Amino acid sequence: MPLVGTTEMFKQAYERGYAIGAFNVNNMEIIQGIMGAVAEKNSAVILQISKGAREYANPHYLTALIKAAIEEYPNIPVAMHLDHGPDFELAKEAVDGGYTSVMIDASHDPFEENVRRTKEVVDYAHSKGVLVEAELGQLIGEQFDSGEGGAMGEGIYTDPDQAVEFVQQTGCDSLAVAIGTSHGAYKFTKGEPSLDFERLEKIQEKLPNMPLVLHGASTVIPEFVEMCNEYGGDLPSAKGVPEEFISKASKMGVCKVNIDTDLRLAMTGTIRKEFIDNPGNFDPRKYLGPAREAIKQMVLRKLDVLGCENSVDHVNAG
Ligand code: G3H
Ligand code: 13P
Ligand code: ZN
Repeated sequence: MPLVGTTEMFKQAYERGYAIGAFNVNNMEIIQGIMGAVAEKNSAVILQISKGAREYANPHYLTALIKAAIEEYPNIPVAMHLDHGPDFELAKEAVDGGYTSVMIDASHDPFEENVRRTKEVVDYAHSKGVLVEAELGQLIGEQFDSGEGGAMGEGIYTDPDQAVEFVQQTGCDSLAVAIGTSHGAYKFTKGEPSLDFERLEKIQEKLPNMPLVLHGASTVIPEFVEMCNEYGGDLPSAKGVPEEFISKASKMGVCKVNIDTDLRLAMTGTIRKEFIDNPGNFDPRKYLGPAREAIKQMVLRKLDVLGCENSVDHVNAG
């Protein structure tokens, strides 16, 4: 089947209390690893591409790889999504380039400006039948580093009343919320992991049926951090969002969960180990192959946490 939008995925996810995995892709092995896992679990999937990924790989290559993936797995609903679109121009480029969903991230702007810039993208994307994710509230972390690390105080969390206004004024199709997650491998640097589930509940109450999105949702699984460190890495005190928090959020209106860091750690740990275990090897297939398998195993684990096994059947029947 051709690439699909996220409407039916989110409808099914919302009604059935699970979330669809949105995995960041940068190269062939990552795409193949993800697709191998979703095929095994019969799960719909969102393959998301950041501005950095486009710059790294050249957007044409990523699009072509994703086209190859849907040819290999014709039964699996796959959405191609722009992650953290920084401005109208890039969002438009993605819409014009065949993405079925785009994010405009103006979350660092004041409310009115966030509304204005989001609506501009919504108007254009909707005129072409493409869906829009927007963000209200701010995640702190590697990507938008305030210098303080981790989730900060009340001020940056999504305000439930503002969220209603924001959705009404912009017409966005899904909303990324800030409830304590952050990007990268160093989350909750100031203490024990916690998410503001009360806030999430309020947002869901005030915006019934609105698909919510959780960014910065990697768990930073200790075993992979240790693997990186054992084989020459230096990732001190890396910490992520506990898996039970992700499962809980998936039953509270969170229909899309973004995962990048956990894939990076799986891939990096595996390649580091291969280099040390096989110092004489200089065939990239012999370390990229195991890395691809590590991505697959990581995604299988994620799909269990999200509860979205067999979502292919739900989406295709919907
Ligand atoms: O949230 C962002 C994703 O982890 C993508 O990261 O901008 O380095 O590609 P990137
Ligand atoms: P992580 O860094 O927690 O994997 O989050 C990824 C993300 O939010 C991509 O948009
Ligand atoms: Zn993100």
